[in-house]
Amino acid sequence: MTILFLLLVFLVVITFTPIPTTSSRLTEVFHWRQVDFAFATDDDRRLAKARGQFIPENNLPVCVEKWHDRVFLAVPRYKKGVPATLTYVNLPNTNDKTTTSPLLNPYPNWDSNLREARNLTSVVKIQSDPCDRLWVLDSGEVEDKREKPPSIQVYDLRQHVQIGFFQLKEKTDYTEESIFSNMMVDVTSANCEDAYVYLADSGHNHMVVYNYRSNDSHIIHHNYLHFDPLFGDFTMGDVNFQWQTGIYGMSLSPLTRDNFRVMYFHPLASTMEFAVTTKVLQNRSLDFSRSNFDFKVMGSRGPGSQSAASSLDEETGVIFYSLLVRSGVGCWNTFRGEEYNEKSLGLVAEDNTTLNYPMDVRVDRNGILWVLSNKLPAFLYSSLKPDEVNIRIFKSLVRNAIKGTVCDEM
Ligand SMILES: *[C@@H]1O[C@H](CO)[C@@H](O)[C@H](O)[C@H]1NC(C)=O
Ligand SMILES: *[C@@H]1O[C@H](CO)[C@@H](O)[C@H](O)[C@H]1NC(C)=O
Ligand SMILES: *[C@@H]1O[C@H](CO)[C@@H](O)[C@H](O)[C@H]1NC(C)=O
Ligand SMILES: *[C@@H]1O[C@H](CO)[C@@H](O)[C@H](O)[C@H]1NC(C)=O
Repeated sequence: MTILFLLLVFLVVITFTPIPTTSSRLTEVFHWRQVDFAFATDDDRRLAKARGQFIPENNLPVCVEKWHDRVFLAVPRYKKGVPATLTYVNLPNTNDKTTTSPLLNPYPNWDSNLREARNLTSVVKIQSDPCDRLWVLDSGEVEDKREKPPSIQVYDLRQHVQIGFFQLKEKTDYTEESIFSNMMVDVTSANCEDAYVYLADSGHNHMVVYNYRSNDSHIIHHNYLHFDPLFGDFTMGDVNFQWQTGIYGMSLSPLTRDNFRVMYFHPLASTMEFAVTTKVLQNRSLDFSRSNFDFKVMGSRGPGSQSAASSLDEETGVIFYSLLVRSGVGCWNTFRGEEYNEKSLGLVAEDNTTLNYPMDVRVDRNGILWVLSNKLPAFLYSSLKPDEVNIRIFKSLVRNAIKGTVCDEM
């Protein structure tokens, strides 16, 4: 330990490059006390407020997705008064170092976001792909009530039009207990039509697999998709609550030799990580009793390490994952061939003020890590203070984020 410390001091002195610390690895790009929207005119905003179509404190972005100079944000209709559920903001130009709080623009337009139009009901997750498409997971639920079946919608990011739409099938794909909160798109630029989407149903503890080419879905059962009753008790800030949230975090490895990927996944109310090949997930005629052993236990992150979103950087092989109770972001390098345990896991950032409920963690195609924190438990179970910053978006070059951690490249 001492030798390591001296070596670190030595390196710092020699090169004058400070090792990033857990508070310096992430750079804040946006923050909001409350989000506001790009209404056409101030009168429109006033009118929307007067009619209860816009209630500022009820709007909370839950996921972040960067595409070119845009950052897309999903604002689910958890509560009344969400004017647009699929939105984006433009990135400030690179010289601008100040954190900004831009207005949210509806995507693809106001009309599709209108509740009467019913194209976008309540978006909970978005992901862009190498074919310039935006995949949208719409829970179909408004204020906890089902208005429509959960759906997957696909938008052409160049033309801004909907090019795909699929509704999950009642009873098989979703039930009353279903809570759709996360998805993972699996596609390469060489095979845009051969896209698969893995959907996490964290209420029903199963996964729905959607195939874009056949425009059909099937489901995956496995005990490892279930929550762990020992890790469902959460205390964050002043709020204590019990969650039974199953499968949530999913990240995909680069293509393996057989042209499939490894999916690393974890239930939210759990500290375990698991893995399975997408060959198994994509198999419609899977025999679940025989495929049981295709699912692998990676290991435990240790107490207090419940995690929501995760994302893998294909260059370095590092998985980043949110740490909900610890208000941080952790990492694990899949390329190093080490066992998954507390020693091989790194800490990228930790801060119970700025990373209060790090709900989304996402690596974009340029090797940049994005993190969104939003105080979700306070939003759901008490209320957010309008005079405090409640929503933050950070970024970091992956290589900077892992520098000095056990996740760094060898
Ligand atoms: C809803 O989506 C369909 C395409 O599936 C499109 O034709 C229609 O214009 C959209 N409606 C709105 C209001 O955007
Ligand atoms: C895919 O299935 C949905 C039903 O969920 C249907 O509305 C849609 O038109 C189908 N798309 C294609 C391309 O067949
Ligand atoms: C943040 O952490 C500090 C030090 O561990 C603790 O004193 C404080 O109560 C925490 N604040 C919240 C909001 O959890
Ligand atoms: C799909 O699963 C079935 C039953 O487990 C197995 O017989 C079949 O070979 C699998 N198909 C592929 C393509 O792996």
